[in-house]
Amino acid sequence: MTEQLAVVILAAGQGTRMNSATPKVLHRIGGRSLISHVLDTAAGLHPQSIIAVVRHERELVAGAITDHAPGTVIVDQDEIPGTGRAVEQALAALPSGFDGSVVVLSGDAPLIDVATLNRLISGHVEHRRGMTLLSAVYEDPSGLGRILRDADGSMRAIVEEKDADEQQRRITEINGGIYVFARQALDRALAEIDTNNAQGEKYLTDAVARILSAGLAVDALVTDDPWLIAGVNDRAQLAEAGRELNRRIVRRHQLAGVTVQDPATTWIDADVSIEPDTEILPGTYLHGATSIAGRAVIGPDTTLVDCEVGEGARIRRSEATLAVFAANSEIGPFSFIRPGTELGEGGKLGAFVETKNAQIGDGSKVPHLSYVGDIVIGTGSNVGAGTIVANYDGVNKHRSVVGDAVRIGSKNVLVSPVTIGDGAYTAAGTVVRKDVPPGSLAVNVAPQRNLDGWVAEHRPGTGSARAAEQSASTGQQADTQQ
Ligand code: UD1
Ligand code: CA
Repeated sequence: MTEQLAVVILAAGQGTRMNSATPKVLHRIGGRSLISHVLDTAAGLHPQSIIAVVRHERELVAGAITDHAPGTVIVDQDEIPGTGRAVEQALAALPSGFDGSVVVLSGDAPLIDVATLNRLISGHVEHRRGMTLLSAVYEDPSGLGRILRDADGSMRAIVEEKDADEQQRRITEINGGIYVFARQALDRALAEIDTNNAQGEKYLTDAVARILSAGLAVDALVTDDPWLIAGVNDRAQLAEAGRELNRRIVRRHQLAGVTVQDPATTWIDADVSIEPDTEILPGTYLHGATSIAGRAVIGPDTTLVDCEVGEGARIRRSEATLAVFAANSEIGPFSFIRPGTELGEGGKLGAFVETKNAQIGDGSKVPHLSYVGDIVIGTGSNVGAGTIVANYDGVNKHRSVVGDAVRIGSKNVLVSPVTIGDGAYTAAGTVVRKDVPPGSLAVNVAPQRNLDGWVAEHRPGTGSARAAEQSASTGQQADTQQ
């Protein structure tokens, strides 16, 4: 299609019913703002120009728009209210001499897609209409503009609910608020539209009757997918749109080869990527820029935020943010993985392990009950159960280094900064305060002393004393007494 195309996105309204300090179009579904979804769909049409109209919370909304889509032209709506006025002011920002089609979208209707718009545009262009819009038949059309049709079925006008009479309100075909116009026809119509209606606004919807009376064709494409035009006006609709978007995202991944066992409890943000033959188990939340390679198994009950997961990795009942897990690594159950964690190929972070800013090499393991922060661990090393890296002295954070093939015993404390050389061992219960040279065994636990008869003397009459006495009389005590 060589036809020129521009997209106008309406985002000046206040969104009163959200009852929020956040502008409506900046509320989020699928991990990002409503308007970012609309901006992406607009970009998918490859138009010459995308214009967003702002007014309410202008700085916040304009800032979010230019952050997400830097090429967007921002237009400020003046004090004249209404969707017609918003579009009128947007048209003034079109490239000079632009004479193509103008698509109008709403910043609060995030589920419209590129395929539907392309169908709308091609029908519009092919039939050389002045205007084509998307409508739907709703069981409960309340609050929305109704499509008025003649006896022969052709669209005659749109009437807003507040201006509609009893009989018009019974019409169930509603205006979806998504349109394509011929630029010149739109210009002329908007110049004629006034604010003489129940809301005192300049209605874009009045363009229908004006374009018809200018002798151009108009039509409504009735969609059988009401979600495409669903607008978000309050928090309940925000949740509904979010659930529907999630349903569509999950389905897209399923059709691309990802097993999602329970779509109802799986939440995947719009920008997450997942390769085929990965399996997502119930209760899994994949957020932000998370990417997952093939043949991984994620969940159940796992949350990943901005993580990179390698092929064949396995993550169970865990939470991770800004972490990288290499191929065939294993995480969980019940791991808490904080930013800056990198786990090498075949590495393991086990039950009740917390990590932060920790680069852990291929094949290295932190299997049980540990805190590991601000540390580099080489390859093939093992950190014993219950080991804590004491990285914080109360004022500063310090960094430790552990080499390759190191064996850290159970319940060690690594008082950072320390370096443990390649192939070194540390004994169980060691408090490592000094560097350990490669190949050495570090021990600093005091030798054990057993004080014979201590219980009988200091805890007479207790269950322990009786058990010891019993053991002595049946001769079953350990024969090593020292
Ligand atoms: C509008 C339509 C209605 C349609 C419905 C579909 C009009 C007059 N009515 O009604 O027929 O059924 O959408 O959802 O168009 N906006 C501005 N500037 C303004 C007013 C609104 O930019 O002065 C923006 C809003 O931010 C919003 C969009 O336009 O993104 C729609 O405005 P809204 O007030 O929600 O219109 P509706 O009453 O829902
Ligand atoms: Ca609306």
